[in-house]
Amino acid sequence: MDKDILILGLESSCDETAAAVIKNGRTVLSNVISSQIDIHKEYGGVVPEIASRKHIERINTVIEEALKEAGVGLKDLDAIGVTYGPGLVGALLVGVAEAKAICFAADIPLVGVHHIEGHVSANYIENPDLEPPFLCLIVSGGHTHLVVVKDYGEFEILGRTRDDAAGEAFDKVARAIGLGYPGGPKIDKLSKEGNSDAIVFPKTKIEDAPYDFSFSGLKSAVLNYINKAKMMNEEFNAADLAASFQKNVVDTLTEKAIHAAKELHMDKVAIAGGVASNSTLRNSMEEACRKEGIHFYHPSPIFCTDNGAMIGVAAYYEFIKGTRHGWDLNAVPNLQLGERQ
Ligand code: KG4
Ligand code: ZN
Repeated sequence: MDKDILILGLESSCDETAAAVIKNGRTVLSNVISSQIDIHKEYGGVVPEIASRKHIERINTVIEEALKEAGVGLKDLDAIGVTYGPGLVGALLVGVAEAKAICFAADIPLVGVHHIEGHVSANYIENPDLEPPFLCLIVSGGHTHLVVVKDYGEFEILGRTRDDAAGEAFDKVARAIGLGYPGGPKIDKLSKEGNSDAIVFPKTKIEDAPYDFSFSGLKSAVLNYINKAKMMNEEFNAADLAASFQKNVVDTLTEKAIHAAKELHMDKVAIAGGVASNSTLRNSMEEACRKEGIHFYHPSPIFCTDNGAMIGVAAYYEFIKGTRHGWDLNAVPNLQLGERQ
């Protein structure tokens, strides 16, 4: 039998310091996440300077815990995979510098990973049968992309957001309602108590690009609704507002994904990124895929938001393809999907 391939995946692109050990690309031996949410929520969003400093303070402990939990030593590792973009430059640099230092000292191959490739790869963890090609809707705090995953790490971008990312819209609307950061999970929860048909917000149509997204018009419509109520000294029902906003986003995401799947005759559709943990989106996609006879895949919520496991999985598929990075690997804050250093 071939020897197992063990990869340590590191993630520090935003406000989670995370490390995980992955066996043969699909088995999670450990997945340690140190979230900074409690610190950043005091400021209503991620403060880049604080994020970098906290990553520095925590990264060694997080790695030690991940190795210990997996029962693995540095000498057992076949490679270290690390997110090098996109993300906050100072935050990314902590992970990249750490990975380079360990790889250099312990003579381990280094594999730089695209953060979004990581999010997509989270789907491989709990779905052993899932292999490319498939359609993937990537919805996170910084990205909204509809892509065809042609092969491991190979993407054809069908559409993307023209302005705000889906998660960004959730966070901004949550702030306006007074729910705090991060807004996605709070809107998800509050919406369960509201009527999603209470307020009808307009849907943004982009005539020349059916798979592109735009959420800034919806965000403005929600903010106008709140401001108008305040000016008239009227109370508004926050749960109805949250549920109606969420329905608008979820319907748009579902419609575009299903439209693309049908048009391209794709029988497998996956979702990825922090917003993929939204319960209404998952139900809506599940139902729509079932109606069309499409297999629907989604990671568990813990693998949807930022984590080291998804980076380890993506690194495995890069590693077996022969991807190796040198000591000149740098953080690339605006790394595009499909772009490589
Ligand atoms: O993927 P992620 O952890 O970080 C980025 O790469 O951006 O995504 C974070 C985003 C935040 O905007 C957060 O509000 C959103 O994912 N999010 C959710 C939910 N959980 C996290 N949005 C909607 N519903 C959720 N349950
Ligand atoms: Zn992310």
